[in-house]
Amino acid sequence: MPEYVEIVEVGPRDGLQNEPRFIPTEDKIRLVDCLSQAGFRRIEVASFVSPKWVPQMADGAQVLAGIRRVPGVRYAALAPNLRGYQSARAAGADEVAIFVSASEGFSRANLNCSIAESLERLAPVAAAAQDDSIPLRGYVSVVTDCPYDGPVAPASVAQVVAALRELGCAEVSLGDTIGQGRPETVDAMLQAVLQEMPAERLAGHFHDTAGRALANIDAALERGLRIFDAAVGGLGGCPYAPGAAGNVATESVAAHLARRGFETGLDLGLVERAAVMARAMRSRGQEQDT
Ligand code: HMG
Ligand code: MG
Repeated sequence: MPEYVEIVEVGPRDGLQNEPRFIPTEDKIRLVDCLSQAGFRRIEVASFVSPKWVPQMADGAQVLAGIRRVPGVRYAALAPNLRGYQSARAAGADEVAIFVSASEGFSRANLNCSIAESLERLAPVAAAAQDDSIPLRGYVSVVTDCPYDGPVAPASVAQVVAALRELGCAEVSLGDTIGQGRPETVDAMLQAVLQEMPAERLAGHFHDTAGRALANIDAALERGLRIFDAAVGGLGGCPYAPGAAGNVATESVAAHLARRGFETGLDLGLVERAAVMARAMRSRGQEQDT
């Protein structure tokens, strides 16, 4: 039996959040509905952040209200604070993701506060998630390289992972937010992080800016990780991470894993159909920009 690797689809959130043109809510819903048929266990569909900071995600509640939920698929949303958590829950998110940075420069740019302040702000979110029995996912951004502070020490990442573990995160996703990681830096980072959290509770979240995402996934597979985030059509980038191109494309990761003999449970035809939709959303935006 081939070994299972989970791909968490983050396209509707991480993929779309950076698109300059506002994508109509019904297009976002159609994308999620297509993804729901493709065999993902988890799809991150929205974020409940300040609409001033990320206008593209302002319609998260309508997206969650409009999708056709498929049993067995968990629909996740990102929240930066208790208000975001409450909105995500009210909208029916099954899983909530919180996010912190491994560097002070990126924390300031993305969340307008220090790492310590962001963790303090997230404590009531974690408590609420525990009370509600909602699975809590933690993201750590800039796990190898920061666009403001440069290379990030593995020990800093491990420290933040430990803090997220203490907050009660079931899983922590390690984000190479600007896609500058290399297999060696990813490996060194994982070596430190694995002292704090076992591989089965870690996910790799690679952006493909430098074309090294698949090599970095291979480095993470070597260290025992079996969960990877990806976005159909390679959509994405973080609005507060200059230079962050797309997330690694789901279709590339799925094909790569299949070549390596892993099972993802995905219907590659449907993944490709969703990727075509995602690329069309992006190119329509680009036509309007020019
Ligand atoms: P702030 O300006 O410091 O704080 O933002 P604030 O409390 O003054 O809030 C600003 C305004 O937002 C206020 O409205 C609040 O009411 C409102 P105003 O009074 O000016 O009209 N507000 C909210 N509105 C809706 N939902 C909320 C919410 N909270 C406040 N939950 C804040 C602080 C955290 C809000 C802001 O910095 C923010 O929203 N940041 C989010 C940035 C973001 O979404 N970045 C992308 C996601 S992270 C990512 O992509 C990385 C990842 O993919 C992994 C990786 O690749 O590394 C996860
Ligand atoms: Mg990301």
